[in-house]
Amino acid sequence: MVGPRLYHYLDVPGQHTLEVYERNGGYQALKKALSMDRATLVDQVKAAAIRGRGGAGFPMGNKWGTIPPGSTTIYITCNADESEPGTCSNREVLERDPHQLIESMIICAYALEHVRTCYIYIRGEYRLGAERLNQAIQDARAQGYLGDNIMGTGFNLDIWVFRGAGAYICGEETALIESIEGKRGQPRLRPPYFPTVMGITNKPTVVNNVETIINIIPVVLYGADGYKAYGTEKSPGTKLYCMSGHIKKPGVYEAPFTVTLRQLIWDFAGGMLNDRKFKTLIPGGASFQWFTEEQLDTVMGFDEVRAAGSNLGSTGIMVMDETTCVVDAALNLVHFFAHESCGKCTPCREGTRWLEQIIWRIEHGQGRAGEVDQLLDITDNMDGKCFCLLGESAIVPVRSSISLFREEWDHHVTHKNCMVQRDYRMSSTAQPH
Ligand SMILES: Cc1cc2nc3c(=O)[nH]c(=O)nc-3n(C[C@H](O)[C@H](O)[C@H](O)COP(=O)(O)O)c2cc1C
Repeated sequence: MVGPRLYHYLDVPGQHTLEVYERNGGYQALKKALSMDRATLVDQVKAAAIRGRGGAGFPMGNKWGTIPPGSTTIYITCNADESEPGTCSNREVLERDPHQLIESMIICAYALEHVRTCYIYIRGEYRLGAERLNQAIQDARAQGYLGDNIMGTGFNLDIWVFRGAGAYICGEETALIESIEGKRGQPRLRPPYFPTVMGITNKPTVVNNVETIINIIPVVLYGADGYKAYGTEKSPGTKLYCMSGHIKKPGVYEAPFTVTLRQLIWDFAGGMLNDRKFKTLIPGGASFQWFTEEQLDTVMGFDEVRAAGSNLGSTGIMVMDETTCVVDAALNLVHFFAHESCGKCTPCREGTRWLEQIIWRIEHGQGRAGEVDQLLDITDNMDGKCFCLLGESAIVPVRSSISLFREEWDHHVTHKNCMVQRDYRMSSTAQPH
């Protein structure tokens, strides 16, 4: 594949350094962008329809369009919190090609004109990524790509790296903003706090995922039409698919949005581990509906996955084979949400813990008659009542696995053991309280 590839140089030794990055064409897009009229640049981004890679798929150009006209202080914040289970594509960019993100953010800031400060909110555990970003910022500044009077244009910009402390909720954009402001990372009520209207210190703030932002480089270099030569009409460009679970070659693979799940598993990731039978997968990280064999030919674009009943999310594709116990898998995921619930709202704080306690009992042969239905009842009581999407996400693995594999859940309750021959338990054996 030629053209708008984001991962093109990722394997080149030293790509994280300014010298190698520039040798491979780095900062050429910035030079081109700075020579362009701002309105043309914004039009190109809108025409390219870059879909947000952080979960919702909202087009970047449309988000820019929601900034109140006449705003004189705008912040751009890169969401590099990347904590969705099974998702690790941002990390590759942060550690191995940090200048790509820096260059992209400078272009975005230039296009929006009234941006003087950008933040990169990076997941606390990404120590190497933070180090490399800080070095890249320092080197870009020394080279005149950042700071005052960037490349003689009179445009001034600084980028700051903000390290999170490892909370999943801080990936939610309003909690992220609270955290940057030095407060406890908990979500804000929307409306009125839509970030592009009232973000950091109540100023318009554009929050975008790492992968969304770096897509601006191919748009500048090849134009909106060149960019749209890949992918589908509504999901243009390429995507970094994170493949994990029972596959031979787990990893991050770049492919156009036209790729199918079957291709990703068998052509990219080498097929099922130990050639076992495929059972189920989650296409977009922990928060979304599970698929079975019937959906393997789904094209992995935003609208196609939604039409098939799930969501592309962060494309954290977790593949499970025939030896997987779905109760065990659901417990593992619900434990994550219960642990990460920020505690702000009752349905999420209490609901996730209650779900985890019941599933733990079912998984450990202590399930009582009627508890599978009780789980569904709890999810009904959480649905639409949580303050943010964390609680809404926590119910998905429960509902999804019960609707697809009810027999296995009932077997656990009735026979106090598991229907499948499994090699290991993926959830913790410690009883939640
Ligand atoms: C609980 C929760 C966690 C989230 N974590 C992330 C994250 O780690 N990275 C991310 O980009 N978006 C995350 N999001 C989505 C963000 O709120 C936001 O929609 C996204 O950063 C917007 O960027 P995009 O338009 O480029 O997708 C999360 C949302 C929720 C509800």
